[in-house]
Amino acid sequence: MSGEFTVVEVKSEWERESEDMGSKRKFWYNNPDSGNLLFKYPRGDSGEHWAEKIAAEVAEILGIEHAIVELAVFEGRKGSTTRSFTNVGIGTVLIHGNQLLESAVRSYDPNKKFGQSSHTLENIWKALDSVLSALHDSAKAKSTKCRFADYLILDAIIGNTDRHHENWGLLLQLSDGKVVVDLAPTYDHASSLGRELSDTKRERLFANNQIGPYVERAPGAIYWSESDTRGMSPIELVRRSG
Ligand SMILES: Nc1ncnc2c1ncn2[C@@H]1O[C@H](COP(=O)(O)OP(=O)(O)OP(=O)(O)O)[C@@H](O)[C@H]1O
Ligand SMILES: [Mg+2]
Repeated sequence: MSGEFTVVEVKSEWERESEDMGSKRKFWYNNPDSGNLLFKYPRGDSGEHWAEKIAAEVAEILGIEHAIVELAVFEGRKGSTTRSFTNVGIGTVLIHGNQLLESAVRSYDPNKKFGQSSHTLENIWKALDSVLSALHDSAKAKSTKCRFADYLILDAIIGNTDRHHENWGLLLQLSDGKVVVDLAPTYDHASSLGRELSDTKRERLFANNQIGPYVERAPGAIYWSESDTRGMSPIELVRRSG
């Protein structure tokens, strides 16, 4: 990790189209030198932009494949920018978790983003097993699940509470006339690292030794059981599934 991060300037004339998926304001743009990128605004005064950047750096140190993120500024507004990982090959398509779960788990509602208690680890394994064993083999399914487990460890370390079913997926690519499927790099870490806390609140948490309880009480977006009313905290999810 370098001592200081570059802040990339996104030029107005590069803007192409907004990205409608997800809850935050963002748009795709084309930098003539580095291709297709997504600029994301942080919400309000939050530190979502630096959370995105630091999370990517942590993933890099841990050797976890992640979306490339830089701090950025657009028309005087701070944000983050991420290079598209669907541009890597011709015809690379991102299939989100909800689409996979819909095909593998009976009566899974792909449009239910909040309170989606069927988004359990067990169902995620089922979905990954079913798609990957069908298109590749069980060894590929196992290695992909291991890589997904790395994402859960990353979430526990950075306190990412937003691993919902549109924040992970598989990349489908045509190679030599065959469909090749792989886990998409981990992306969207805006809701991590206490990015919503004011400096005063953060300092108070540190001073009162309250970081542990703060991390433990934050519900994540993966449920332990379909009958649970809230998602499990990312740290407890790792503990429980270890
Ligand atoms: N680096 C990337 N390469 C390709 N596609 C991406 C990349 N980053 C994000 N996307 C796509 O854009 C969508 C929206 O991006 P993202 O999840 O970062 O936005 P968000 O508004 O923070 O979402 P949420 O509602 O989950 O908070 C993703 O679900 C994914 O489909
Ligand atoms: Mg998202």
